[in-house]
Amino acid sequence: MSTSSDISRLFSKFGSGPSQYQELLKEQSQQNSLPCEPDLAQAKDSELPSIAAYVPDSGTALPEESRVKYVDLKSARNALEVEAASALSRSAGMFDKALDAGVSLRSKLDDLSQARQREADALPVFFSRPRPSLSHISIIAVVSGKGGVGKSTVAANFAVALQREGQSVLAVDLDPQNALHHHFGLEPEAGRASWTAGIAQVDALGSQQENYLHSASGVRLLPYGAVDESRRRAFEAQLEEDPDWLACLLADLQLADGTIVILDTPPGPSIYLRQVLAVANLALVVSLSDAASYNTLPMMDSLIKTYAGDRPEFFGASYLINQVERSRKLSEDITRIMCDVLGDKVLGLVRRDPSITEALAYNRSVLDYDPRGLGCHDLLSSAKAVLLKLTERGQLEQAV
Ligand SMILES: Nc1ncnc2c1ncn2[C@@H]1O[C@H](COP(=O)(O)OP(=O)(O)OP(=O)(O)O)[C@@H](O)[C@H]1O
Ligand SMILES: [Mg+2]
Repeated sequence: MSTSSDISRLFSKFGSGPSQYQELLKEQSQQNSLPCEPDLAQAKDSELPSIAAYVPDSGTALPEESRVKYVDLKSARNALEVEAASALSRSAGMFDKALDAGVSLRSKLDDLSQARQREADALPVFFSRPRPSLSHISIIAVVSGKGGVGKSTVAANFAVALQREGQSVLAVDLDPQNALHHHFGLEPEAGRASWTAGIAQVDALGSQQENYLHSASGVRLLPYGAVDESRRRAFEAQLEEDPDWLACLLADLQLADGTIVILDTPPGPSIYLRQVLAVANLALVVSLSDAASYNTLPMMDSLIKTYAGDRPEFFGASYLINQVERSRKLSEDITRIMCDVLGDKVLGLVRRDPSITEALAYNRSVLDYDPRGLGCHDLLSSAKAVLLKLTERGQLEQAV
């Protein structure tokens, strides 16, 4: 009897798919029983685009959406026990014939014991596996409904800003574009880890530290990796199969206490969004102050509710409105409406600043490229707000 045939039989019994189950190795189940460097202080409140100015009243809640339904793991485990019992009785049947042939009792007992062991080895062990504990780190998922709104820009510059504030920061690129490294000026070096290697390339967990890139800012980066289409599809299938893949990866990295992990994602619904929302403490939704972005907000709200659920360690979504143009009436009006709807969930506003685009062209963070620019100023202010939020929630020990 093979493991895969057992799994197939179980799924056909329950009319479900493998992604709705979690498989544990026996060892795991046993364990489970057991200079121009601005800093945040430089961001003067008086210079900020005032969120309060956009918020006449308290926030209006976005529409409630239905919650995800989970498969009944208890029934699945009962079915496995029935499978095991019937397999054992089949094994025992072999020995009726052996009795007739005059085989010794001891030999029959040995054979029976070996058959039982084979059955036990072949059967997968299903549990409602507790997610690995990640309480020693803070995880920020940078997400958006629409593409091109500035997620990678925000992820990279927040990483640099928080690192400069003395935090230990790991940025993880969970977007097949594999573009986050461009913000850090990391070029591949012969014989050393490069942005071509990354999380999408490794089947087994445990060797991802080898793919760390170390930026001059001190931020560590795990790139997605430069992969071909078949590898990308195989990786995404792996993420579909194991909803806890990212949780296991982050646990496996053995990050120091207090590390802040910033996860960059592709836009809209995706398997990557599902993975990051399963581990995040904070979902940072980046939005432009335009109609297209505004229209995706209910969808993002629903996705966050679906995938982050009501995990106690998830303390909600915050919103960053990017590329605000105060000179343009429509941008100003939509910013006001967003602040009205979202209330104090708006973490910050970042003005449109050509320096931000130029910084990317030169593969530098905005903090390095134009430390006195408006974009740098706004990004620093928003990073400060994130740090305060983490501190208030007890994720970090000291307030900034
Ligand atoms: N505040 C800003 N002012 C001016 N340009 C900006 C600003 N924020 C981001 N940009 C520019 O917008 C473009 C898109 O940014 P970015 O790649 O960070 O978006 P993204 O949301 O990560 O995109 P994708 O959805 O494709 O991953 C880049 O050229 C970036 O430099
Ligand atoms: Mg991006």
